[in-house]
Amino acid sequence: MCGIVGYMGNQDATPVIMNGLRMLEYRGYDSAGICTMDSGEVEIRRSSGKLVNLERLLKEQPLYGNIGIGHTRWATHGKPTVANAHPHKGGSVVVVHNGIIENYLLLKDELSNKGHKFLSETDSEIISHLIDEKLKSTTSLEEAVQQALKELQGAYALCILCHKDNKTMIAAKSGSPMVVGIKGNEFFVASDMPAIISNTREMVIMEDGEMAVFRNGEVKFCTLDGEDINKTSRIVDWSPLKAEKNGYPNFMLKEINEQPQAIRNVVAGRLREDKGDVFLEELGLNNSGLNAFERLCLVACGTSWHAAMAGKYLIEEHCRIPVDVEIASEFRYRNPLISEKTLLIAISQSGETADTLAALREARSKNAHIVSICNVVDSSIPRESDGVIYTRAGLEIGVASTKAFTTQLVALYLLTIRLGRANGAIDLKKGQEMLAALNKLPAQVEKTLELDSQIEEIACEYLTSWDAIYLGRGISYAIALEGALKLKEISYIHADGYPAGEMKHGPIALIDREMPVFILAPNDRHIVKVRSNMEEVITRGGKVVALCSEGDNETGKRAEFTLQIPWAGEALSPVLFTVALQLIAYNFAILKGKDVDQPRNLAKSVTVE
Ligand code: F6R
Repeated sequence: MCGIVGYMGNQDATPVIMNGLRMLEYRGYDSAGICTMDSGEVEIRRSSGKLVNLERLLKEQPLYGNIGIGHTRWATHGKPTVANAHPHKGGSVVVVHNGIIENYLLLKDELSNKGHKFLSETDSEIISHLIDEKLKSTTSLEEAVQQALKELQGAYALCILCHKDNKTMIAAKSGSPMVVGIKGNEFFVASDMPAIISNTREMVIMEDGEMAVFRNGEVKFCTLDGEDINKTSRIVDWSPLKAEKNGYPNFMLKEINEQPQAIRNVVAGRLREDKGDVFLEELGLNNSGLNAFERLCLVACGTSWHAAMAGKYLIEEHCRIPVDVEIASEFRYRNPLISEKTLLIAISQSGETADTLAALREARSKNAHIVSICNVVDSSIPRESDGVIYTRAGLEIGVASTKAFTTQLVALYLLTIRLGRANGAIDLKKGQEMLAALNKLPAQVEKTLELDSQIEEIACEYLTSWDAIYLGRGISYAIALEGALKLKEISYIHADGYPAGEMKHGPIALIDREMPVFILAPNDRHIVKVRSNMEEVITRGGKVVALCSEGDNETGKRAEFTLQIPWAGEALSPVLFTVALQLIAYNFAILKGKDVDQPRNLAKSVTVE
């Protein structure tokens, strides 16, 4: 991943770039760096770790100048050290890079043979050297960049400076996102709009293979062959959202607590109670359009993939349409069976996940109709979709996804109603019942949040455990996977989710007196079977934390701890169980003193393969 920012104008570049990087830190926080050009000289400051370290460095060693580029890194090639931090300088050329250069070793060898000395382990550093090399035989920086980029294989979004051409900044993109902001004769470049929207609303979205050359208060867009491109800007009408903690100790807890409102938002204006149906005009498909598909294919990564898993249970159960669920990074490389009769649904919080975007493009090439379920408005995935259901969860800063996931579940529930009403699998009465259950959900989330102090006790009890197991049946299996992922991500405790009935086929060997087993036992059709699975654990000395439905005084009788969660029906209870599991992971991590907002090795938006 990584986030990049560039600026050229009449302001001091450093604060503009640092503000932009702050908004991009969700893309990586292994190191950060900035380069400005002042009186024809380039100066660089870099530090390892989070942006705050670079801020400290800049206080001691400030930078000046009206042109600059900056970077926040999520390490792919090379450890998160200062030497590997961007910007990288090769001769006279300085670059910041987001993406991966796949043929960098070959290029590095060639350049080394020509006398270039490399100071980092990164793939990115070769770009600066390659452009520097091309400058020896070309007349302009622009031409040198064009020649160099043609030799790169892989993905890049780049900002480039060169002290030999100190009135120019160049940006280029292929495979990694990039936008240009324009405000008169001031120019902003960034990996995404939120990084620069506080400066301007006039944006140009760069496409693959395009370059932007900023010089003397003007910008020119062109191809790598030097052909001019006439790009039109658009005025973005959404407001920059402020990242405020509003009194919470961290963003994750704030976002967990925002879920009742986030769910109200995803539902707002979409319910058609009289028809037992929902308004989803954004899909761009009427009843006959929806009924034309033979199957659905839900594709996503990570937490969003867990939402897809839950979506399969919902849609197959209620709409009787076959649904495949695919991990995007697998789907994109296995020549999947997709046709114009497939409705592909890409699910993504950020809308920028490289694998999900590539899967979408793969499906597009096979003529699928594409709808996305996305949180970030105007991001790449919705932009490339035929229709989109926005989840309206608001800005999610905590790296571990919380409100984005539960709003994805609700969006899938809305889609289920729409599909079922369109094909008749859901009749008026059932549609109305489903909407009534949905209307009660925000208050039930509020009630679930009140379990926090009980959950803290559980976390205290098992704080020294190294492992945990999460078990569930049916749709709760998807939620068990999500609960385990949350615990892993923020507390670094190893955790696995299994279908409860599958445990006896292997994982049961792990049961001991140290490891908590979280059993998801909502009062649905599986309850009796889940209780038996719980007995199997207890019989082997396992420590069970039972999550069951309010009023169920049976399930938890032999568990070490019981959490009673409001009953919202089989289809919506997963949302409430998720909230409890988020609080479990959160309490473990906080008691262990971990940074829940920026867990190690992770980034919010994964824009590399
Ligand atoms: C986990 C988490 C990740 C993301 C995954 C996909 O808490 O946030 O697993 O779900 O990287 O990201 P999006 O949804 O932005 O495509």
